[in-house]
Amino acid sequence: MRRSTAPPVLISESAIAARVEALAREISRDYETVGEVLVVGVLRGAFIFVADLTRRLSLPCRVDFVALSHYERGAAPTGAVRLAMDLRVPVAGRHVLVVEDIVDSGHTLAYLVATLRARNPASLKTCALTRKPGRLQVDVALDYVGFDLPDRWVVGYGLDYEDRFRTLPYIGVVDT
Ligand code: IMP
Ligand code: MG
Repeated sequence: MRRSTAPPVLISESAIAARVEALAREISRDYETVGEVLVVGVLRGAFIFVADLTRRLSLPCRVDFVALSHYERGAAPTGAVRLAMDLRVPVAGRHVLVVEDIVDSGHTLAYLVATLRARNPASLKTCALTRKPGRLQVDVALDYVGFDLPDRWVVGYGLDYEDRFRTLPYIGVVDT
């Protein structure tokens, strides 16, 4: 296996756990009267956050996933997104909570929200573990946010750099 130095810690494992717990409490309270929630996780980056968050919700919930891919022209993302893997369950009439790992330009989340909204869910909210407020390009509503980040490339807790570092238990920074 290739060895690499561990990225320096930006958000510790215990800080993440505490924030996830607080988000789960807030979401559980907000959805108390709603009944069942359909959590839609965005692969691959959100897989760990979805696992930790959903196990702390005191709500009946279903969990499904989508995968998105970005059209790239050369190395630069164009902002265009498409659905590479769709949900298994219909969202019409359901209370949908989209769970993302990170909101950077906002294009990914904006695309997903528009796509799901067109399917007539009973309600649609968004939750992101992290966001980079300095890089937002589109106006997309975030109902729940874990942490605001500086404009750095972050890895760990699901987030990758070229598919590495996803399984780090904390969020760290890498030089790209
Ligand atoms: P968007 O720019 O908000 O559409 O984000 C696009 C995607 O880029 C996110 O879903 C992440 O997969 C990825 N991304 C953006 N910033 C980071 C980062 O700092 N670390 C890891 N992935 C990131
Ligand atoms: Mg993502």
